[in-house]
Amino acid sequence: MDKLLITGGTQLNGEVRASGAKNAALPILAATLLAEGPVTLTNVPRLRDIRTTLDLLGRLGAHLTQDEDGVVRGEPSTLTRFDAPYELVKTMRASILVLGPLVTRYGQADVSLPGGCAIGARPVNLHIDGLRAMGAEITVAGGYIRARADRLHGARLIFETVTVTGTENLLMAAVLARGETLIENAAHEPEVADLADFLIAMGARIEGAGTDRIYVQGVDRLGGAKFAVMPDRIETGTFLVGAAMTGGRVRVLNTRPDCLEAVLQKLRECGARVETGPDWIELDMQGRRPHAVDIHTAPYPAFPTDMQAQFCALNSIADGVGVVAETVFENRFMHIPELQRMGADIRIDGHLAVCRGVEHLTAAPVMATDLRASAGLVLAGLVAQGETLVDRIYHLDRGYDNIEAKLAGLGAVIRRTSATAGEVESA
Ligand code: EPZ
Repeated sequence: MDKLLITGGTQLNGEVRASGAKNAALPILAATLLAEGPVTLTNVPRLRDIRTTLDLLGRLGAHLTQDEDGVVRGEPSTLTRFDAPYELVKTMRASILVLGPLVTRYGQADVSLPGGCAIGARPVNLHIDGLRAMGAEITVAGGYIRARADRLHGARLIFETVTVTGTENLLMAAVLARGETLIENAAHEPEVADLADFLIAMGARIEGAGTDRIYVQGVDRLGGAKFAVMPDRIETGTFLVGAAMTGGRVRVLNTRPDCLEAVLQKLRECGARVETGPDWIELDMQGRRPHAVDIHTAPYPAFPTDMQAQFCALNSIADGVGVVAETVFENRFMHIPELQRMGADIRIDGHLAVCRGVEHLTAAPVMATDLRASAGLVLAGLVAQGETLVDRIYHLDRGYDNIEAKLAGLGAVIRRTSATAGEVESA
């Protein structure tokens, strides 16, 4: 099992290029099931979750390939099966995103319930309720969602809770449904708008994506398209936090500042100088220690829950006390016991984490539990005294494209090893 070894104490300085957004690429790959023409996707990150999705699509009969530059190409295909089995879905919850496309184009889908994960129960009831409202006959039994429909019809859907993949699944279902669909209390996340832009490029008729009201006029078929996936705002934010924690100066290229306003605001609040251009963001900490900041996670455009662990790491060495409120997921503080092992002074009180900054952290063997928690532990390793070993980094590989090379390029002392803990390979 791969591990990362990080020797703390160096500043991050220089330029790094953001990869394409995992959470835009995953729904867009699912949407290729709707295409009746060839598709070409550029700026697709090279990640474990992308490979898992390509494997799932291939299993259904849709054969897409990703080349060494990350470009994904596929020809229209006739599916040979319409199921997503548990052994695959349990490795990646986002597999649920094939549900909407399969039902709306092929009238059938047997998709395993994703089940929970480290950060929460992760129900998909809102996905199911929406498809039922559009005319799908759905039974949930034996751990599977079994959906059948002649042709979905448009509906007025009102989400009781903002759900990103729920919005995406029903948007994909609506584009081929008969008639009009209005999705209210829709997720605003930029990745939802990116999916909509891809669907529109294939011929879908969508208005309002990126707001809380999305209007769709169903069409009979969609063609192929060439499309560039948007940059990853969470990867971008992760590098910026690393610069703030190490006192360095980092410019992230090929990114979109407009998608990170809430995060940039917090980085300025902790004392960083932040400048932005059309496709770049530069953070200069000028060698200073960050001030602690309060964080309250919530749906976009508020502060993203996917940046919460990274800011817990920043607050752990910041000057002062920062209170972090996690309001989206019920168990997203798994990184905190690991940070405490490194000397962080953080107290969990329900959905609050009270972080009292310490002068320095101390390196320790720690364990990644979920994707963003592992990012927070890597950042903590950058500033800890000594050599931190982060175990189970397969979590990290799900969402970060070659993170150790990118961090090393900014000056971090970091390397990947597969030695068992305590038997670290010789340097
Ligand atoms: C997406 O997950 C992202 N994943 C997550 O990123 C991200 O943390 C999350 O949105 C919130 O921004 C992808 O886009 C692939 P939700 P998703 O449905 O769609 C409740 C990462 O690190 N809910 O918006 O699964 C749910 O329990 C991952 O890249 C229901 O109750 O999240 C949660 O409390 C982690 N019923 C809240 O809504 C439902 O049917 C928001 O979840 C669906 C959701």
